[in-house]
Amino acid sequence: MKSSNDKTVVKDYFNATGFDRWRRIYGDEEVNKVQRDIRVGHQQTIDIVLGWLRQDSNLAELSICDSGCGVGSLSIPLAQAGAKVSASDISERMVAEAQQKAKDALGDANNLNLAVQDLEALQGSYHTVICLDVLIHYSQENAAQMIAHLASIAESRLILSFAPKTFALSLLKKVGDFFPGSSKATRAYQHREADIIKILQDNGFSVQRQEKTSTRFYFARILEATRS
Ligand SMILES: C[S@@+](CC[C@H](N)C(=O)[O-])C[C@H]1O[C@@H](n2cnc3c(N)ncnc32)[C@H](O)[C@@H]1O
Repeated sequence: MKSSNDKTVVKDYFNATGFDRWRRIYGDEEVNKVQRDIRVGHQQTIDIVLGWLRQDSNLAELSICDSGCGVGSLSIPLAQAGAKVSASDISERMVAEAQQKAKDALGDANNLNLAVQDLEALQGSYHTVICLDVLIHYSQENAAQMIAHLASIAESRLILSFAPKTFALSLLKKVGDFFPGSSKATRAYQHREADIIKILQDNGFSVQRQEKTSTRFYFARILEATRS
């Protein structure tokens, strides 16, 4: 289990300075060059996942869980495409921002449900469970536990993205206040692709599609795995 201390630090970060920083990066207002680069890289990750799901031509029939949804960068376009989306995040402020954006984008459509929830406490059963750019908050040991939980609520498919271990951590630090001081600091963890694939296999999932995203300051591996 991810230590509650770690989790509290992450939650507090995304309810305070982290919220302000990432809301801007994931939004469309003026940001600095590094943040703009991360915005572009992150959008590529979102577009790859949307592209995979759209290729299958059955999006409107799927129940999708977007765990650690942030401000809804993936959930909202998925809901616009007709999927039934349950999205959640540990940060109240991220969820409040996602709710506002969803209201603007979706109006009265009711196929997106947003909730404040620790992803390790999620229950239910979804055709597809997605978790993008959250593993950066999980050590290797805790990642195994976290992915096992997501696997337990995924009927057919899991889609994960994570920062690869090859990526120089110093780049993340350039984002600025990500490590601003002991009271607000959150650790950033990278993962070896082979380790994540092994965890997926241990939980009965095998990789079907894999992609990479890289800009100057943003790097991600994206894996789609289905029940073997
Ligand atoms: C880097 S952001 C990515 C947001 C979103 N997945 C995206 O790609 O746009 C990481 C998010 O994970 C959330 N998070 C971290 N640990 C979590 C947990 N245990 N349960 C739910 N959300 C979590 C944070 O609050 C933050 O919103």
